[in-house]
Amino acid sequence: MDNEIDYQDYHKALQFDQRVTRMGALDHMTSIIIDGLKPREEDRVLDMGTGTGRLGMVLHKKLPHGSVVGIDSGRGMLRVAREKIAKQNIDNFLLVRGMAETLPFLPAAFDSACLMLSFHHFTSPEKATAELHRVLKRKGYLFSLDPVLSEPADSDDRRLNEAIEEAFQEAHGPEFRFFTTSQLRGLYEAAGFSIDICQIHELNFDRKGIESVPMGPHWAQAYGNLAFRRQKDLLKKFEQNYFAFMTEGQKTVVTGKMRWATTKAMKG
Ligand SMILES: C[S@@+](CC[C@H](N)C(=O)[O-])C[C@H]1O[C@@H](n2cnc3c(N)ncnc32)[C@H](O)[C@@H]1O
Repeated sequence: MDNEIDYQDYHKALQFDQRVTRMGALDHMTSIIIDGLKPREEDRVLDMGTGTGRLGMVLHKKLPHGSVVGIDSGRGMLRVAREKIAKQNIDNFLLVRGMAETLPFLPAAFDSACLMLSFHHFTSPEKATAELHRVLKRKGYLFSLDPVLSEPADSDDRRLNEAIEEAFQEAHGPEFRFFTTSQLRGLYEAAGFSIDICQIHELNFDRKGIESVPMGPHWAQAYGNLAFRRQKDLLKKFEQNYFAFMTEGQKTVVTGKMRWATTKAMKG
């Protein structure tokens, strides 16, 4: 375990912040990753699934003698990232269009790697973890932050996880897949990483408007599907484990929690 960061404190701070906003949540996630990764000033860091460059735009400041390389398969996302980089004249945050499963980099090209909210999108998580292992230097770290589902204790839990996945796949395609922490561990270990931390964080929400929750419309879709099918037992579990949606005037009030896992792992 990494004793230098008090993850419990993050956990508690987030738990008590009942009024956290979507942007507040994303900023928190960015700082958790950077604090967890602890890059050295000269490091070359890979940001896999960089999107619009949210993480890289902060991370590059920690690397005055190094650089961040952000890779993403999405042309539109990279265009937004490129505009931000150009506007601020940043010269140590570079962008590459490509797939996590076939990284266009030489072996041992990076000191460390980070993944923010991207792992669950990859077509093949097995290939992506194998590629991460290949492009990292020996003893290089990866730090991943990704939403996770509750570890299923029985067949109802498994049905609920399947129903959530189904709703998200309707929006994002068949590759989209949330993992549990044991599945995440298994994937990284199978690729040859040793796990330092694999920990769940919870973020409580009590907000008006489903857009105020990250991926709120998809969570609402999953909830709506269960309600439509009158799966009352699963709805109850959904409310206990994830979110409840209530109408108040013109607005939907969302209460509940989002869970994500931080995983810190080393290439042995
Ligand atoms: C939810 S976004 C997260 C973006 C960014 N990390 C953030 O936190 O703002 C997921 C990103 O993963 C990218 N992505 C999905 N599948 C990918 C793949 N196979 N290889 C590389 N990038 C991928 C998407 O284009 C998208 O930009």
